[in-house]
Amino acid sequence: MTTVWRKLEENLAAAGDRKIISLFDAPDRFEDFSAEADGLLLDYSKTNLDAAALTLLLELAETAGIAEKREAMFRGDKINTTEDRAVLHTALRATESQPLEVDGKDVRPEIAETLGKMERFANGVRCGEIVAAGGARFTDVVNIGIGGSDLGPAMATLALAPYHDGPRCHFVSNVDGAHVRDTLRDLDPHTTLIIVASKTFTTIETMTNARTALDWLEAGVGPKVREHLAAVSTARELTAEMGIVPDRVFGFADWVGGRYSLWGPVGLPILLAVGPDNFRAFLAGGNAMDGHFQTAPLDRNLPILMGLVGVWHRNICGYPTRAVLPYDQRLLRLPAYLQQLDMESNGKSVSADGKPLARKSGTVVWGEPGTNGQHAFFQLLHQGTDVIPTEFLIAGESHEPDLKVHHDLLKANCLAQSEALMLGRSIEQAMEIAGNLGFEGEQQRIQAEHRTFPGNRPSMTLAYPKLTPFTFGQIIALYEHRVFVEGVIWGINSFDQWGVELGKELSNTLLPMVQGANPTGKDGSTAGLLRKLSS
Ligand code: F6P
Repeated sequence: MTTVWRKLEENLAAAGDRKIISLFDAPDRFEDFSAEADGLLLDYSKTNLDAAALTLLLELAETAGIAEKREAMFRGDKINTTEDRAVLHTALRATESQPLEVDGKDVRPEIAETLGKMERFANGVRCGEIVAAGGARFTDVVNIGIGGSDLGPAMATLALAPYHDGPRCHFVSNVDGAHVRDTLRDLDPHTTLIIVASKTFTTIETMTNARTALDWLEAGVGPKVREHLAAVSTARELTAEMGIVPDRVFGFADWVGGRYSLWGPVGLPILLAVGPDNFRAFLAGGNAMDGHFQTAPLDRNLPILMGLVGVWHRNICGYPTRAVLPYDQRLLRLPAYLQQLDMESNGKSVSADGKPLARKSGTVVWGEPGTNGQHAFFQLLHQGTDVIPTEFLIAGESHEPDLKVHHDLLKANCLAQSEALMLGRSIEQAMEIAGNLGFEGEQQRIQAEHRTFPGNRPSMTLAYPKLTPFTFGQIIALYEHRVFVEGVIWGINSFDQWGVELGKELSNTLLPMVQGANPTGKDGSTAGLLRKLSS
């Protein structure tokens, strides 16, 4: 593997200041550096990867044992070794019927049963058979959860807004009381269903928000509060302690990681919003991507290719961040969702076998929808001193055919940005522009310098026909598997998250001090801030 890394570094060094655009001298550059899965196209031709580098990256994937590790995941091996857990979110969207065993037990019947239970509940609420304590229909659903118990359904209900024909969905995650207060302010407890979503049912933010919401419900509907509650969790005893009836508890096993959980019970708000047919289409999209990931040759395999380009940019080119830029307003929450998916999975410094990583891991993921970002941070993408690889997402067709001009503008802008990032503008071109504006001599040079774009900034584009539930499922599963691919190459366990523990522990020790106890054993800064902030 070391030799392949070295050869990749040599490839980049040999490329020198080669321009990405020069790679299009090869007649089939686009065809050779793009791949498709069920209508979803990944174009990675606007990167500085040549055929030799791609071959080496594919060798890297093979040497890392990608095929075996992929099969181990799908088979239910306990690849999350630090927690001794299988990683089987893929089973939540699978259509196969042959047994899939974890600890000697076939998990498929339980998955099917839970999905059926979720669908019956969602249908009941959607058609008014399951009603509020006073007999009214539920008009609003409030999901209380955080991290994986919030980001997925919050992102998905927005993404699938054109299919939303169920109750309105709201999401409360932050322990900041402003979140729960502002969300409940305009809701009527008599027509509101609360879902408490927490895998562990111990997360302090969720438990605190749930108690506040329960008080609000009780004040409104009295002792029949239970009829307004449901829970999503692996911890049935704790849901019972909160008084949630077993019929309204949707359980899942520990082999579904929080950030991979929107395909199962954590997706209940999605199901309530868009109904079972659309939810199943979403699952089918994820399942189609699983099939593609398992069977497509490595050089036509979207998650593999996306992961390899990620590794190329992170490790060979040394770029620490990547920007995700959906030219799709309904994917507004995708960057936030991917921050957890990607950075909680691969933000690690030790390998699965507990050794310091040999190379950088965990790319910083950030972004905002276009075109909004163009009027904010794109200046830095084009002319800043750092190179930031970008990932564009764009649909061929929108859900607003009567507003076609909007979508035409969106597409033109998306394509213009990746083109501008690649081509840039030379000083000679800028001198001409400055000259045409009437500048001469030194002023012309200064003006031209400001109007010069270095270009040669890499991007990828994901192009899809339309943001349907199926396509949306494909996209999310693609990103999940891309994280897996990068994790395998870096030798990481992508499925634990020990890095979130220390802050939680310290906040427990700080709470009494915030509430007035004497600050002991705290550093000068923390003690000083406590004095300033204590109530
Ligand atoms: O922040 C850590 C974390 O454990 C995430 O991995 C998880 O998605 C989130 O907290 C919420 O956890 P739970 O669903 O158990 O409340």
